[in-house]
Amino acid sequence: MRNLTSRHGLDMPQLGLGTWPMKGEECTLAVRQALELGYRHIDTAPAYENEAAVGEALRQSDVPRESIHLTTKVWWDKLQPAAMRQSLEDSLRALGTEQVDLFMIHWPTKDWDLPRSIEALVALRDEGKARCIGVANFPLGLLRRVAEELEAPLSAIQVEYHVLLDQRGLLDYARSKGLALTAYTPLARGQAAEQAAIRKIAEKHGVLPSQVALKWLLDQDGVAAIPKASSRANQQANRDALKVQLDDEDRALIAALPKDRRVVSPDFAPAWDA
Ligand SMILES: NC(=O)c1ccc[n+]([C@@H]2O[C@H](COP(=O)([O-])OP(=O)(O)OC[C@H]3O[C@@H](n4cnc5c(N)ncnc54)[C@H](OP(=O)(O)O)[C@@H]3O)[C@@H](O)[C@H]2O)c1
Repeated sequence: MRNLTSRHGLDMPQLGLGTWPMKGEECTLAVRQALELGYRHIDTAPAYENEAAVGEALRQSDVPRESIHLTTKVWWDKLQPAAMRQSLEDSLRALGTEQVDLFMIHWPTKDWDLPRSIEALVALRDEGKARCIGVANFPLGLLRRVAEELEAPLSAIQVEYHVLLDQRGLLDYARSKGLALTAYTPLARGQAAEQAAIRKIAEKHGVLPSQVALKWLLDQDGVAAIPKASSRANQQANRDALKVQLDDEDRALIAALPKDRRVVSPDFAPAWDA
């Protein structure tokens, strides 16, 4: 499995396991199983209410903590410095670790003191509670402001990205600044595999449509992906996607798919073109 390295010390396996919406025992089993299959990158968040279950899997597993990349986040109602600190401390306790590898603001919010929040994020990194920091669901304008005006030492951005959603603007910018881009909802929750073009490519190579969708992401410089899978079969299939070889004809077919199918856009989401 390839590792993605980016600015400020990020070194993260390109393929990770998404854990939302698994909770409790289901989540513990899925994470433990993923670690057995060779996954070394786990994505969680307080909002998923599964950090304790992820922590339990880490405790049960023989894989040493230092071999696992762990991402967690802070929800948008806890972006004031004291609340953010408390949120990360609660996450560390639930996960049973002294440091996460990547700590991200989960969503931007409106009418906030952005410089103070970013200062608090950076302070938590400087104190060693997070090895690296990043932001999720930030539109390009806001990301620019954080990276350039506030000069935050970001390592990564996490956004929805898959064969049905164009993210060229954010990806070009992330690359120009040396940031990794983690693709969430990389299978478009099943919609990617339903596309005739994806099925046709899969048939041509004798692989699964979901593997085609994932490999298209993993072939891109600076891109990581965190599909959620609970069954052993799906977790293994997603790892095996790394072996799929796409060609120019496949990429042309994927380029011609509609690119405006955003799956995740809650009512608190930012204006995506801001
Ligand atoms: N930062 C954010 O705001 C944000 C937002 C959304 C998601 N995320 C993160 O991204 C992760 C993934 O996104 P997601 O869960 O929204 O969507 P997704 O990964 O695109 O899709 C998950 C669905 O695909 C199925 N699946 C997985 N592998 C498969 C395979 N090989 N063949 C067929 N079906 C397969 C899963 O089923 P089974 O479980 O049955 O295997 C599940 O129903 C989340 O778990 C979370 O960690 C972050």
